[in-house]
Amino acid sequence: MSAQTQARRKTVRDIAKAKGDQPLVCLTAYDAAMAGILDPHCDVLLVGDSVGMVVHGLPSTVGVTMEMMILHGQAVMRGSQQAFVVVDMPFGSYETNSDQAFLNAARILQETGCQAVKIESGTYAATQIAHLTERGIPVMGHVGLRPQAINVDGGFRAKGRSQEEWSRVLDEAIAADQAGAFAIVVEGVAPELADQVTQSVKCPTIGIGASAGCDGQILVTDDLLGMFEWAPRFVKRYADLRSVIVKAAAEYAADVRGRKFPEAAQTYKLSKPSS
Ligand code: KIV
Repeated sequence: MSAQTQARRKTVRDIAKAKGDQPLVCLTAYDAAMAGILDPHCDVLLVGDSVGMVVHGLPSTVGVTMEMMILHGQAVMRGSQQAFVVVDMPFGSYETNSDQAFLNAARILQETGCQAVKIESGTYAATQIAHLTERGIPVMGHVGLRPQAINVDGGFRAKGRSQEEWSRVLDEAIAADQAGAFAIVVEGVAPELADQVTQSVKCPTIGIGASAGCDGQILVTDDLLGMFEWAPRFVKRYADLRSVIVKAAAEYAADVRGRKFPEAAQTYKLSKPSS
């Protein structure tokens, strides 16, 4: 595609101005083919560290590395044209201090060409968010259920069950907003808490297992497509691709074993060269 016909990629300003406007449509993507399919429909494509579980079969996102995020970030950038692309900073790549966060975030932006990073933002992370934003790196926050904290939480559990937890989620969102986050993912909380967060911050909120009142919604694409037998309560399955794939694989296996594939239509019509 020539430079003239290339779609304009959304910028952080397009995302920020969606606050209180038309809801932002966001999905995860990990490879170029899927990014190309989703791109025309999405405002934001997130290269989530959920890639560790969805693609690499890890038990949680804790084992995800910078190299994995960069590889998948590059693929999604190649496959997309107009969506704003955010790459997750993996566990252990930003928590130590602001310098560590900047070096790793800068590497992600430089090596993938993406527009922003996301960090799971406890209140401590406000320092990192301000540091990165002041130095030219847009940051998306992530509050509520924080998958990278699975080992302190003892599992993936919805947040806001006690007054203390409720206030903590709210405080974390306000801290991220005040530090300059351009958007905040709000995951796994009651709709009332998500709405309170949305009303308390200047930047758009992106809900997942949260509330339709958020400024946008995100889901793990493979969950929405029905690729797994199990999905979290907050997932609405828009397709049952797992069944489609199971049926196709079974038919292919039967054809191969019965010598019914390939047929003439799938073979080359080349006559044997005379020797
Ligand atoms: O890693 C991820 O996919 C995420 C979204 C589900 C918000 O963080």
